[in-house]
Amino acid sequence: MAIPDRLDRAAEGARTQFEKGFSAWACRHGLSDWEGWFSTYDETVYEAVLRDVGGGDRVLDLGAGDLRLARRMAERAERVYAVEVNPVVVAHALDGIGLDLPRNLHVICANALDVAVPPDVTMAVLLMRHCRHFRAYVDRLVEAGCSRLVTNARWGMGVERIDLTRTPVAFDEVREGWYACRCGATGYSGTGERPLGQVTEVASCLRCGENELVGDQR
Ligand SMILES: C[S@@+](CC[C@H](N)C(=O)[O-])C[C@H]1O[C@@H](n2cnc3c(N)ncnc32)[C@H](O)[C@@H]1O
Repeated sequence: MAIPDRLDRAAEGARTQFEKGFSAWACRHGLSDWEGWFSTYDETVYEAVLRDVGGGDRVLDLGAGDLRLARRMAERAERVYAVEVNPVVVAHALDGIGLDLPRNLHVICANALDVAVPPDVTMAVLLMRHCRHFRAYVDRLVEAGCSRLVTNARWGMGVERIDLTRTPVAFDEVREGWYACRCGATGYSGTGERPLGQVTEVASCLRCGENELVGDQR
């Protein structure tokens, strides 16, 4: 029988969500719907993230999956903290990497919401289309002094770079235009009569105002 190569091992890791025990594990971690599912994104998504990573960055990769992006970021950044909750995915990834694991790539197998944000983090990455804890991640990053977040977690926004040092505007001030909220929601406020413009970053939108599920708005 052929020895599985690295890609085969990653694919094997990806299948863990179909294994017995996955639902109980996901429930234990408060992961609902597809939030706990491991899947990869297109190369264009990874390239958009990599463009933002500089030599002095200390990056926190939230939900790092099989570490494919974390390894590439570690080639550019000073340090990468890769946090992935699924032990089976992490085990397969580390098994494939073996002794090639770079010194500046710190792999943490845990629920990212249980792990303190390292105080030296300059940038966070959240590639998680089905994220249901967007506000919880943002609040923790802001509190730790992290200045930017690159993410695809807000619907309709593609890969975006959020400046966490800027104070979001009050929702009432968005008279006409698109908004994206720190709760993870996006939407349009107004009648839609004016041409589409910039997206306004708001702190508290109609949706999270109505929905009191703080930290789990989706
Ligand atoms: C869609 S996959 C993306 C993987 C990786 N970011 C990439 O782009 O290749 C999302 C990953 O986030 C992980 N995840 C979800 N919630 C998490 C949490 N609270 N803490 C750590 N990892 C989490 C899942 O287990 C899954 O592997």
